[in-house]
Amino acid sequence: MSLHINADKNEVADTVLMPGDPLRAKYAANKFLENAICYNEVRGMYGFTGTYKGKRITIQGSGMGQPSIGIYAYELMNFFDVENVIRIGSCGAVQPEIELRDIIIAMTASTNGGNNKNTFKGMDFAPNANPDLFLKTINKAEEMKLNYHCGNILSSDNFYDDDPEIWKLWARFGILGIEMEASMLYTLAAKFKKRALAICTVSDSIVNETLLSSEEREKSFDEMILLALETSLEL
Ligand code: HPA
Repeated sequence: MSLHINADKNEVADTVLMPGDPLRAKYAANKFLENAICYNEVRGMYGFTGTYKGKRITIQGSGMGQPSIGIYAYELMNFFDVENVIRIGSCGAVQPEIELRDIIIAMTASTNGGNNKNTFKGMDFAPNANPDLFLKTINKAEEMKLNYHCGNILSSDNFYDDDPEIWKLWARFGILGIEMEASMLYTLAAKFKKRALAICTVSDSIVNETLLSSEEREKSFDEMILLALETSLEL
């Protein structure tokens, strides 16, 4: 039991998939887990535990943005002692060769947020994915013949940035896509000596000015959930 997750410790599995949207947690649990039980409804941030091919898996919504995932990931790692957290999110691509529905597997996550600047007293911390989780996911993506890219993403604290051109600076330095959660997740995994990975489907291209329809969004979300679930079988 923690402040924002109203569950007993044994109701949450060792491996947790985290979509931003709690309704996506519900959708994924209903569609892919057997015997899924909803253990949390506090603030509508649904969490479900069930089994996938016999393996116990939790799917917990994180909410949008670093402060929100910061609360849920902190509680999962510190109070529920989970070992693996895989964010299953969406992002906007900033490299022209990255297409809608492609999957980005985040090796590292930069941020324009100030949290780590405060924690590390003005110095820079480089939040990174767990290497084992990262490699296992790449191998699985190859096996599943998915279109994927690996590299650095930006966890932005603004969806609506005051400078609408700022993404170009990040793109020049090789950032693949922009989302809003991974950097905080990786930082917490480092703090608590847990394993984390963020994978995102490309829901929009900021550089090509294209956008997935809701139907296509669902299809690409399914592919990404399966990638995360199949990887989870090896953890
Ligand atoms: N910006 C930030 N977060 C996002 C985006 C975006 O363009 N697309 C999906 N998540």
